[in-house]
Amino acid sequence: MATTTSSPSTSSGPVTFERRGDVFVVTIDNPPVNALGVDVRRGLAAAIDAAEADSGATAVLIVGAGRNFIAGADIREFGKTPQPPSLPEVCLKIENCSKPVVAAIHGAALGGGLEVALSAHYRLAAPSAKLGMPEVALGLLPGSGGTQRAPRLVGVKPALELMLSGRHAGAKEALSLGLVDRLGTEADALSEGLTYANELIAAKAPVRRTREATALADAEASRAALEAARADTAKKSRGLFSPMKIIEAVEAALTLPFDEGMALERKLFLQCIDSPQRAGLIHAFFAEREVLKAPETKAARPRALDAAGIVGGGTMGAGIAVAMLDAGMPVTMIERDEPSLARGRQHVEKVYDGLIKKGRMTPEAKAAVMARFSGFTSYDALAQVDIVVEAVFEDMGVKKAVFAELDRVCKPGAVLATNTSYLDIDEIAASVSRPQDVVGLHFFSPANIMKLLEIVVPAKVSADVVATGFELAKKLKKVPVRAGVCDGFIGNRILAVYRQAADHMMEDGASPYQIDEAVRNFGYPMGPFQVSDLAGGDIGWATRKRKAAKRDPKARYVQIADRICERGWFGQKTQRGYYLYPEGARTGVPDPEVLAIIDVERERAGITPRAFTEEEIMRRYMAAMINEGANVVHQRIALRPLDVDVTFLYGYGFPRHRGGPMKYADTVGLPKVLADIREFAKEDPVFWQPSPLLVDLVERGADFASLNQSE
Ligand code: 3HC
Ligand code: NAI
Repeated sequence: MATTTSSPSTSSGPVTFERRGDVFVVTIDNPPVNALGVDVRRGLAAAIDAAEADSGATAVLIVGAGRNFIAGADIREFGKTPQPPSLPEVCLKIENCSKPVVAAIHGAALGGGLEVALSAHYRLAAPSAKLGMPEVALGLLPGSGGTQRAPRLVGVKPALELMLSGRHAGAKEALSLGLVDRLGTEADALSEGLTYANELIAAKAPVRRTREATALADAEASRAALEAARADTAKKSRGLFSPMKIIEAVEAALTLPFDEGMALERKLFLQCIDSPQRAGLIHAFFAEREVLKAPETKAARPRALDAAGIVGGGTMGAGIAVAMLDAGMPVTMIERDEPSLARGRQHVEKVYDGLIKKGRMTPEAKAAVMARFSGFTSYDALAQVDIVVEAVFEDMGVKKAVFAELDRVCKPGAVLATNTSYLDIDEIAASVSRPQDVVGLHFFSPANIMKLLEIVVPAKVSADVVATGFELAKKLKKVPVRAGVCDGFIGNRILAVYRQAADHMMEDGASPYQIDEAVRNFGYPMGPFQVSDLAGGDIGWATRKRKAAKRDPKARYVQIADRICERGWFGQKTQRGYYLYPEGARTGVPDPEVLAIIDVERERAGITPRAFTEEEIMRRYMAAMINEGANVVHQRIALRPLDVDVTFLYGYGFPRHRGGPMKYADTVGLPKVLADIREFAKEDPVFWQPSPLLVDLVERGADFASLNQSE
């Protein structure tokens, strides 16, 4: 390393610089991820000025301190008044530097971080480097020259693919794409960067500006790649604002001089910044990180989590077993008898056989995974596991019998979890001698795919058990949300209410097909009646029958679903439900007989059907969801509104670009939501009771976001 003559480092703010031999080293040190906040932008600009002025410096090296190069623009600044210098200006300054500039990348070089690197003249990537332009995931486009420089450097096709997918490329891929010039062999980007810079000095390497790179030389191929991406994006990103803007900006790289392309990129970037989708997506970004900060994760350390047990090998037990096996854990499954155990094992194997069929797994890899799986009918096999997840029938008697066995055999300190959907976990905990070890872990179906994990916290559970739930989520790559005990916890409790609102609208005159379409047009992948057909109408039917005796006689009860279930029409698995699924089709077609059943039910209930617009449908659907969401926060079932948002983003297909139901409510305005509820209450005051929290927030002129900051 050439560090013979070093100047003292200039250390003020997050960007420092010092000379090492002939190389002017600029270090960005802005924990946690070296985001490009205003002080970093100022520091970088000042550092380039200082490099120009330093006659002893022949090259410049930019590196990041800590685990990353630069993770991108500071997302927290979006939506606030911009502070100069802008990042495009800083990037231009780097590119215009009269001395060769090297970026030595380790860890993340994402978004604006990659744009800084692209403005340098030479790039080196350490093995840990992750390069990408993930702006699309935040409702944005690369706004500091990425849309102009990346296509010029690597060509339209790969540049657009990176921008539209938002994915990260590793160091090797970045080299093969031409995004970087050299691969590092060790993780120390500084020393390798210095070596590279000194080699460039020795070779008298010239300044090399990315804006002059020539990957767009084949105009025909570039145009074809652009049009292909445009057609594909029009099909795939329905309703999303920024993907088409990305294509428009990249098109400018083909058709306009660099400076004009930059101006267009800026204009489009600012349009994206102003879009509510940007606000929704950035809310989602922070919310999914905030949910990790539950009080118990701050207060306690998780227990050991090496070996797991599952009781019940049905839909959920098998799915949870797969999730754990995929995370490398050994799994012991308990079933009630040998035939059920064989079925449980089959359910697990079926998932891996499906992967083998698709060519995504080898039979050898399956065998290696299944070697960690064992099944028994005796509970004694669970004596040494660290955690057990119970997933037997949804019946309190059956669950208590299982927990009595767990209490008998499990080692002290083992976490005893239930996957119940609705049952009272406090009651389950009270039935064993160690209630402090009992927690709810509510997975979603299919459990090996769905990201949400509600961590349900009963009164007597100890904090380290809750922290273990969060640790398990991390291990399984799930998104954990802390929930309190109540009927349905956060998600299913709210679902029950807006599903009723949908049923009311169906009886009042909207068809299930119209409601599904409105909900899809809002951004959901499926409407509520399609979901019911997919999950199986029999599950809800059984729950309704079980709860019939306790139903408030004054509450409106729509019987259409019961009429459909009485005919044995449970959805896809029976080839008809709300929709017809001829010959096992997965997409249903409307069923005139269902519409006839609805007509009869309307008549029986004395209802004259009326027309609903799509907007009216969504107003009611969302008002019901938001109001119950407010109740759930009010009763501390969810810690904050953002916990409700994350639950719906990851468990219920809520469109991410709207940020979640509570963020959406803030976007609409809480006074408007409350006014809607009060208007609907004129027809049905039992169902439409404004949540006290919603009323309170409106009276104080506050919004849900104000409660997200309070924890
Ligand atoms: N701005 C502000 N804060 C950021 C940030 C950013 N760009 N990226 C991460 N953070 C914060 C997180 O919120 C978190 O804060 P917390 O500890 O208070 O919760 C902290 O940094 C650590 O983040 P992670 O928990 O995500 O850390 P990981 O190590 O798991 O992941 C990462 C690191 C891969 C860099 C990940 O944080 C990430 O993907 N960040 C976002 C990258 C991104 O989207 N960049 C593009 C920004 S937009 C842009 O650059 C526009 C430009 O084109 C003009
Ligand atoms: P399932 O009926 O598919 O499976 C239950 C399994 O438990 C069966 O294989 C049965 O043989 C076994 N079992 C019953 N009694 C047992 C006992 N005493 N000992 C050992 N095994 C026993 O049911 P599913 O759908 O997997 O549900 C299981 C639990 O998960 C329920 O509490 C349910 O509410 C909950 N849940 C279900 C979801 C779903 O979408 N199906 C989603 C989230 C939670």
